[in-house]
This record gives sequence, C-alpha cells and structure tokens, in this order.
Amino acid sequence: MPIQVNQEQLEFHLYNDSVSYIFRVLEKSRQLEHLYFGKRIHHRESFTHLIEREIRPSTNMFEGDHTSSMEHIKQEYPSYGSTDFRYPAHAILREDGSHITNFTYDSYRIIKGKKTLANLPATYVENEEEADTLEIELVDDVLRCRLILSYTIYQNRSVIARNAKFINEGTETYYLDQAMSMNVDLADDQFDMVHLQGAWAREGHVETKRLSKGIQSIYSNRGASSHVFNPFFALKRLNANEHQGEVYGFSLVYSGNFLAQVEVDTYNVSRVNMGINPYRFKWKLASSESFQTPECVMVYSDQGLNGMSQTFHKLYRERLVRGHWRDKVRPILINNWEATYFDFNEDKVLDIAKTARNLGIELFVLDDGWFGKRDDDTSSLGDWFEYEEKLPNGIDGLSEKVEALDMQFGLWFEPEMVCKDTKLFEEHPDWILSTPERRASHGRNQFVLDFTRGEVVDYIFDLMDKIISKSKISYIKWDMNRHITEAFSQSLPADQQGEVFHRYILGVYDLYERLIKKYPEILFESCAGGGARFDPGMLYYAPQTWTSDDTDAVERLKIQYGTSMVYPLSAIGSHVSAIPNHQVGRHASLDTRAAVAYFGTFGYELDITKLTETEQQKVKEQVAFFKEKRALIRDGEFYRLSTPFENNETTWMVVNEEKSEALVGYYKVLAKPNEAYNRVKLTGLDPDRLYEVNGETTYYGSELMNIGIILAGNYIDRADEYWGQEHPGDYQSRLFHLKALS
Ligand code: DGJ
Repeated sequence: MPIQVNQEQLEFHLYNDSVSYIFRVLEKSRQLEHLYFGKRIHHRESFTHLIEREIRPSTNMFEGDHTSSMEHIKQEYPSYGSTDFRYPAHAILREDGSHITNFTYDSYRIIKGKKTLANLPATYVENEEEADTLEIELVDDVLRCRLILSYTIYQNRSVIARNAKFINEGTETYYLDQAMSMNVDLADDQFDMVHLQGAWAREGHVETKRLSKGIQSIYSNRGASSHVFNPFFALKRLNANEHQGEVYGFSLVYSGNFLAQVEVDTYNVSRVNMGINPYRFKWKLASSESFQTPECVMVYSDQGLNGMSQTFHKLYRERLVRGHWRDKVRPILINNWEATYFDFNEDKVLDIAKTARNLGIELFVLDDGWFGKRDDDTSSLGDWFEYEEKLPNGIDGLSEKVEALDMQFGLWFEPEMVCKDTKLFEEHPDWILSTPERRASHGRNQFVLDFTRGEVVDYIFDLMDKIISKSKISYIKWDMNRHITEAFSQSLPADQQGEVFHRYILGVYDLYERLIKKYPEILFESCAGGGARFDPGMLYYAPQTWTSDDTDAVERLKIQYGTSMVYPLSAIGSHVSAIPNHQVGRHASLDTRAAVAYFGTFGYELDITKLTETEQQKVKEQVAFFKEKRALIRDGEFYRLSTPFENNETTWMVVNEEKSEALVGYYKVLAKPNEAYNRVKLTGLDPDRLYEVNGETTYYGSELMNIGIILAGNYIDRADEYWGQEHPGDYQSRLFHLKALS
C-alpha cells in the first residue's frame, strides 16, 4: 500500500519501491510540515523523531511558544507574512488590501488512480492500480477558501505528481496573486542546479550551477514556455553525474509563463517551488469559483541524471502523450521548409514528394506559405484558405495527389497569429492582444490573436476544420513564431487582466483538444519557432515537437543532448538538412547528419530532388536503416554517455528493454592528429551476454561496459595501410549497432 496515514498524529507517507515522501500536520497551527522526500525508507508507525525544532531568535505564531516560527519549519505549501519570510507557494489579496492567509488542515482522502485536471494537460493512469492519489484539504476560515493539495504516487515509477486547487466557498471575492503547483523544502543545499537555457536556434543548452544562498530561478514571462528556459530543472548532489548519485528532477506540465525557483535560506534549507509565474498573474476568485494549478512532476533518482531522464522519458511517453500515436512508430517525413521556403508551387512540392517516396520516405509535410497571399513572412496569417496561384487544386487536390503516391500528407498552421493584411484582421481588429491607446508590437510582422476569447478560438477552429475536413491530412505542424507583448484582452474587465496569460494558454489547449477530438488520427507536431514550446504541456496534445530551427548536426548534438534531460526520443523532432547548413554554414557529411537525426523522430528537410544519385542512394539506405531501428529508438532506454558541452566527442546510446539490441551514436566534432587512444564505454547492457557489434566483432556486455569499444585500429604489420588511409576530417560520426547472440 503506497500511501500510509497515521490517523492519530496525522502523518502521511507516500512510498513505492524507490521513493518516499513524508509530511505531517502541525499540532497547533494545523499547517503542513514537510519531513522527507528521497530514496525509499522504511515505513514506521510514526515519524515524529524526524522533527527538528530548536529555540532560535525569531517571530512566533503563538504567544508563549518559541518554536512556532514557520521560518524554521519545512513546509508543503507555505504562505508569507505569518512568521515565514521566505518566498511562498501562494498569495491571496482580499478586497481590504490584506494578504495574510491561514490554511489549516481539514481532511484527507485517498483515491485509487489519478484524477484528470479540468482543461489542463496532465499525466494520467490507464487503470486504477497504476497509482494512488492523496488529497489533503485545508481551509482558510476567514476567506472561506478551500485548498486541495494533490499528491499522486505511481506504483512503479520514481515519481510524485502534484497540483493545487483553490475553491472559494465564501461570499467574498478575492484574488490569487500566486498559486504555485508545488513546494518542497529540502533539508540542505548540497546541490547543483541543472537546467536548460537557450535562445532561438540554440535551445536546450545544459547549465549547471552550485546552489548558493538566496534565490536562483528560471522563468518565462513570454506567454510560452520559451527558448530561454525550459520548465524543468534538476537538483543533483555535488558528487552525482550522468550515471550515479542522487538527483531530483522537477518538470511543469504547462506551456505558458512559469517560474521555478530554489531559495536557499540562512539555515541551508532549499525551498523549491514551481508553477505559473506570479509576475503579472492575478486571478479573480469570486464566490463558488475555483482555480486549478497545472501539474508539477517530481522525479527522484539515485542513478544520476540518466536515471532521472529515463523516468521522465517513460512517464511522458507512456502516460502523458495520448491517443492514436502514443504507442506507434512515427512516419519518416520530408518537410519542404528548408527546401523551398515560401517559393513553391504544386509541381515543385509534388516533385519533392515523388522523389522522397521513391527513397522510402512516408510523409510529405507542406510548411509555411500555402495560404492567403503568403510569399514571405509579412502577410496572410489568419487567412487559412489556399493560395490559388501556388496551389490551383487546393490543399484537397494536392493532398489527394500525395496520397496517390502512397504517401501521407501533412500541413503547417500557425493558428494563434494574424497579419494585418488579412480578412480576419479587417473584420476583427479588436481580436489581437493589445493595450488600449498603445502601439501593439509585432514579431515577424504578426500579431497575437486573443485566445482568451472563446469566439476567436471558435473562428480559428472553423477555418482549420474546413481545410482539414475536405483534405487528406495525416499530420499537422502547429507553429507559434512570436511571444506575447502588451498582454491585454479587450474582452476582460480591469480586475481580470492578470488572467490574460493563463487564459491564453487555456485557449490554445482548448483548440488542440477540439481538433484532436474531431481528428484523433492526425499526428500533431508542436513547434514555436523551433523549440520555444518544447514542454510537457504540449506533449499531452502533440506527441512530437520540432526541437529547434537549427538543423546543423553539430549544433544538434548539444540541443538534443539537453532536450533529452526530460523528453523522450519519440518526442524530439530531428531532420537531415542541406549543406552548407542554413543556420551556420557548416558542411557535415550526409552520414553524420543522419547519425544525429536518427536519435529523434527522423525526417528530411532539404530539396531532395537536388541530391546526386549517389546521395539519393544513401538517403534510401538511411531510410531503410531507420525503419529497421525505429522501434528500438522509440521505446529503448536512452543513455547520455559523454557530453558535447565539455568534450570534442559526444556519445549516446539506446538499449531495448530485453537488453538484446542497442544503437550507439559516437560523434567527434574536430579531427585531431596523433590522438590519445579512445574507447567508447557503454552502459545498460547485460554483462553476461555476447554482443555482435556492427555484425563483426563480438564483445561481452561486461567488456563493453568496463573496457569499451576500442576505437583505435589494429594495424600490426600494416604500416603502409595505416599511412595510406584518408583522414575522415571534421564532424565525424560512427554508429555501433549491437545485437546479442542467442
Ligand atoms: C518556424 C519553424 O520552426 C520552421 O520549422 C518553419 O515552420 C517556419 N517557422 C515557417 O515559418
């Protein structure tokens, strides 16, 4: 039984084989005290021996009591202003201007399985045996506000999923100024904070910094989770690395403004909280209304960062992604964006599709430029009807022709945006987010539709539905190419303008949900100028995400390495593109470009008709190779072996569950002369099995994991051959396919 309750002392212990989470109700204040989160410990009748209380100079809640300072108590969902001076998990503003809250324990309930979150993405269970949920109800008697803290523990995953819900049970209206999804006060500060940082075309860069006193945070205030920070961070013990040691991972299932912060106080307690960014957030809670926070997923690993990532990968692949495509291998696609940009017509795209089909590619995706009068990025977003000069037979005609090639057809949309030269804008100039009497800033010549408004979402749904329903569409790429400025909705009253960012993302989720309901077999790929919305919220709707607009293989080593901290390979959109690469001008070989793109959803984004015959033959072989290996890549355990952020060499691998097959990618950025001897040490294999590597040499798993694949040649008595060989040059890659011999 993974949730144990001591009824008398009101202590709660959630545990499974790998993780324990313990908290209790404080005797006097009836607030919640956090006791432990980490590796599974023994269950005991009571955990009162874990309480730390000493007399310190401080303010105290109760007269005559000198140990009731909340500043000195580790908590579950703290408030500010009644003896705790650290940053809180929530804040409520009353109409009288006061901010003090006092949520005290009311009751608990244990639910088999896991509830869904209304209108929000979340992890789920398929049957009730997979998880148990503990709901703690607290009440503020003055506000007559009920707070429900929800904790789900999965049976076989090292995961605790949390969220909070506020319900106004009184008659007064008040405002949520802050409503984080979770808070946990860890007992010490001996951690590095690891997170993903970036910008357009360089997303997912891993940053590691030692925790220090005060606040360290990552956040978004852009209306999307953004390129700059991902809604994820890890706290890893100072001696932990990719393979061993303790790591806590935190991931927010949300696509809008977020805040994740760690506050190390003067007693070295690390207060961690994560949720909707309180900056510019203010939610009006009138009588009988409720507010549901997004979900925060917390992972504990005692097997380093790889252990944490594998737990996230499995959970997100199996119990966050939903629907038709969840368990299916994804089609190998070709996208025309870097092949043609806006300059295409039906003949051109059919040429690309035909050539691609002959090489075994399964899905053709028509990107930006098929609608309105869109010849560049200055026009037409919002006019979701075909550009007849380019596509005289419409999307329906084109999609039929593509399907006749025995290929699937996919289409690009950017549903949340509008350009000023459109019918949409002409009819509804007030449908953009903009502040009265102020200029509305543009991004890429486009403006953001007010998705807080139901009628706007309805309108876009209808336009998209018209195109989709008359055509043969198997895939949709949903893009979003700018961030939100002058966030103000003309449809909301003054005291609800603080709701705009959250309502906006709820509108986006709503449109996704409606499209998925109507077209459950369409594969969605989310995108936001590359990876600006690569987050778990999006994965609930779109099983894969375009990782970055940087398609260069060497740059992708870092981007994909970082992205894999949280997200499974089945979600990581990765394409082979042209050389010189369009973002950095690099010339990586076709082999290396594919060797990097294999570790993702895999596809092509170049004018395949311009490749030489030899190159096309190579593409054919790559496509065949990926088809053979894609189930392994999709479902296997992924291990990062050496990091591109510190080394000239990057190595990663994927191993199937039975440990009978693996694929290793080894990449060397710059060629070096007369180098040190190099070996690729593997992990995750069966030490006792004999593996054939690339159909040639055999090694035991124990050799591969303790000695490694020897990269140096064996040139005994063959000096001429050695000196005569051609040097492979920069941007090399090697793949090792391992097959266990029965
Ligand atoms: C940004 C995306 O990331 C690209 O892949 C492409 O779809 C362009 N937008 C089209 O405008």
